[in-house]
Amino acid sequence: MSDFEHVFEKPPEGAAADWTIPQNWAAYTEVEHQTWDTLYARQMKILPGRACDAFMRGLDALDLNAGGIPDFDVINPKLQALTGWTVVCVPGLVPDEVFFDHLANRRFVSGQFIRKPDQLDYLQEPDIFHDVFGHVPMLTDPDFAAYMEAYGKGGQRAAGLGMLQNLARLYWYTVEFGLMKEADGLRIYGAGIVSSATESVFALDDPSPNRLGFDLERVMRTLYRIDDFQQVYFVIDSLEALKDETLKDFGPVYAALKGKDDLAIETVLPTDQVFTRGTQAYAQRGGRFAA
Ligand code: PHE
Ligand code: CO
Repeated sequence: MSDFEHVFEKPPEGAAADWTIPQNWAAYTEVEHQTWDTLYARQMKILPGRACDAFMRGLDALDLNAGGIPDFDVINPKLQALTGWTVVCVPGLVPDEVFFDHLANRRFVSGQFIRKPDQLDYLQEPDIFHDVFGHVPMLTDPDFAAYMEAYGKGGQRAAGLGMLQNLARLYWYTVEFGLMKEADGLRIYGAGIVSSATESVFALDDPSPNRLGFDLERVMRTLYRIDDFQQVYFVIDSLEALKDETLKDFGPVYAALKGKDDLAIETVLPTDQVFTRGTQAYAQRGGRFAA
């Protein structure tokens, strides 16, 4: 799920100079299409009332439930008409600068493969279900669409300043694991949550994790874990607020970060806006590795 580690140094054979590969939609097997349908149906039992409005609207707008793995040639014209974004396939994780360049040009990179039927619940590398079901609906929202493009440009800048580690935390705690306040309560917008049957419930209902108000500098100081449910989720006021907060110049924020230590995941600061103070019981009993 982290888009910040990479496997190859240069585009592997069959990939273009920008690292994209054809989706080759016609080559997906019946079993692979069924895996998509199974995962989709499972999430639709869980997400109404949990995922934010923008996400649910995006699913409809792109008709991602048409049956089987979406064909990018079909969904891209719709997505492009809405916000100018498109989805392209890449052969796994790509170098940071390649990833940022695609985002800066409103192209979201997706894995081409889908998980095997015996890996429905956990896999390490993002597959097309995580990337397309999880990420693409949010790209139909104009504010989120602008945020993601800005993130690509901000990534290029942060790389030059040696601040990528900090910026990656912003991605993690928003794009992947973000929560948002809506009129009826907290809702999910992070792709890592909405694409996971178990974390969709855990992130909102479990007493274990902290749920804290989003604060840009605070988020960029906070460590995260990639191997289990999060121990802290940050809550934004709205997608517009997220965009406004991040369109400002990060220069002063980066300068302020230089003198400050990273924060452990379970930290709650006196200055935090606390929605839920977690028990951390899940993590303390060993998380998904508990006996
Ligand atoms: N505003 C940030 C900067 O000045 C760029 C950015 C925008 C980063 C949106 C992330 C998300 O560097
Ligand atoms: Co992701």
